[in-house]
Amino acid sequence: MNTNEHPSLSKLVGILQAAYSGELAAAKAYNGHWKSLSDAEDRKRIQLIESEELEHRRLVGELLSQLHKAPNPHLEKKMARIGWWISLSCKISGWFIPMYGAGKLEQGNIVEYIDAAHYAKECGHPEMIECLLEMAEVEWEHEKFFREKITHHFLYNVFPKWAIPEPKSSIRKRSL
Ligand SMILES: [Fe+2]
Ligand SMILES: [Fe+2]
Repeated sequence: MNTNEHPSLSKLVGILQAAYSGELAAAKAYNGHWKSLSDAEDRKRIQLIESEELEHRRLVGELLSQLHKAPNPHLEKKMARIGWWISLSCKISGWFIPMYGAGKLEQGNIVEYIDAAHYAKECGHPEMIECLLEMAEVEWEHEKFFREKITHHFLYNVFPKWAIPEPKSSIRKRSL
């Protein structure tokens, strides 16, 4: 970390590097996920989510380069490996676990992009806020999809629940 760097800039870069690699892991995982499903509607929706995660990766990469920063090579390798393993495990772990895991991760993604927008504002990059909040809104839709899929499953009452996100409109209220 550059000690002369604004603390919020360091935090923003940390989130963006984690998100850049995390989006790749997510896309790989969703690729395995939709291919493991038999329901045509679910396959189509998760295939679309996969493409939205790849678009996020592209956008986050652009934000990093605007900040003259690069992806973290260690995270790139680690998250690619994790994504590959999840993709593979979808074929053997049944229906519930991948849906549950995805919903939980998506909830974290909403928070991350809202935090990133906050840090972008603090370190003098207001031009990045819109892009970051739009991504938070897309993650909000992803979380909703996966949560609604699992709420009627008997295992939903057995597994720990994550905090249900506030209404989508609160994304913009909370961050600015
Ligand atoms: Fe994403
Ligand atoms: Fe997502």
